[in-house]
Amino acid sequence: MTNKKGRVFSGARPTGRQHLGNYLGAIRNYVALQEDYDCVYCIVDLHALTTMEDFGKLRENTSEMALDWLAAGIRPEESIVFVQSHVPQVTELHTILSMFTPLGKLTDLPTFKEKARMQPHNINYGLVGYPVLMAADITLYKADVVPVGIDQESHLEFTREVVRSFNFRVGKQVLVEPQMKTTTYPKVLGTDGAQKMSKSLNNHIELALTDEETVARVMTMVTDPQRTHRNIPGRPEVCNVFTLHHSFTSEAEVEQIAADCRSAKLGCVDDKKCLAANINRHLAAFRQKRTELAKNPEYVWDVLSDGARRANTIADQTMDEVRKAIGLP
Ligand code: TYM
Repeated sequence: MTNKKGRVFSGARPTGRQHLGNYLGAIRNYVALQEDYDCVYCIVDLHALTTMEDFGKLRENTSEMALDWLAAGIRPEESIVFVQSHVPQVTELHTILSMFTPLGKLTDLPTFKEKARMQPHNINYGLVGYPVLMAADITLYKADVVPVGIDQESHLEFTREVVRSFNFRVGKQVLVEPQMKTTTYPKVLGTDGAQKMSKSLNNHIELALTDEETVARVMTMVTDPQRTHRNIPGRPEVCNVFTLHHSFTSEAEVEQIAADCRSAKLGCVDDKKCLAANINRHLAAFRQKRTELAKNPEYVWDVLSDGARRANTIADQTMDEVRKAIGLP
């Protein structure tokens, strides 16, 4: 460890190309935290198996996501970027932590109930144990800080409880209790303006779209439902297009947009055109870098394999301590 403030760990399921929700809720934070922390960023392919129907897409989804992370500014020379299954010690820790986990706690979690509702035909054991595997991710790397969106709050609280329970039972502070860190934008809504932006809801806007594709996607965004006619004044505070402006548009312009929307001087179509143009400008350097990196497909896999090697060293140390603490012969 260097003289930084501590270690950050975060993970995301390999969902392929990332969207604005991932970017504003997580990736932007991952990049900023590199200044002050030793960072470990993991593509959680094992977690993805709990909901994935087409396993054949895992490899491509992994490299597409890693490309987005690297193009957005995660620096693999400093930070560890790796694939969860490449460091299999996490599955051993998952098994051990499961002995410290009351079953009822898992089935009571809102995230479990939501997933069970979404895939009633496939409520598998892995889905129930999902938060335990996540706790194993975080504790294997002794993370002090975990940057995530608000949807992961119950999993972070669960992790903290498991750590306390484990440390209490073994009588010493072996595992580290992590702090959750949300961005200023912990829940990005989708184009429907109602639900969390998510690929599975098809309400997402991908970072790696072309300028034209971005405009087309932004044009589908739902605005203030009361503004049924161009001449009716809008309410920026209930409009997701306006919310997104805060991340891509200058403060002065945001104020002007709010005033012009309220007075009906600015219509929703022009407002969306403006947002799309600002998103395109904001992401121009990212898109250029992504195109460059994608020219050498080996590069991403080299980064991930170097990351796994470095992650493995930390994982081995933790597992030595854990095995000793619980008396495994
Ligand atoms: P996942 O793959 O669903 O999402 C990755 C990260 O993106 C954030 N996020 C959002 N934030 C704001 N608004 C949105 N619309 C939005 N969509 C996604 C998520 O909060 C998350 O931070 N269980 C985790 C993955 C995981 C993990 C870990 C995270 C596994 N092990 C250990 C942290 C630490 C998940 O499914 O994230």
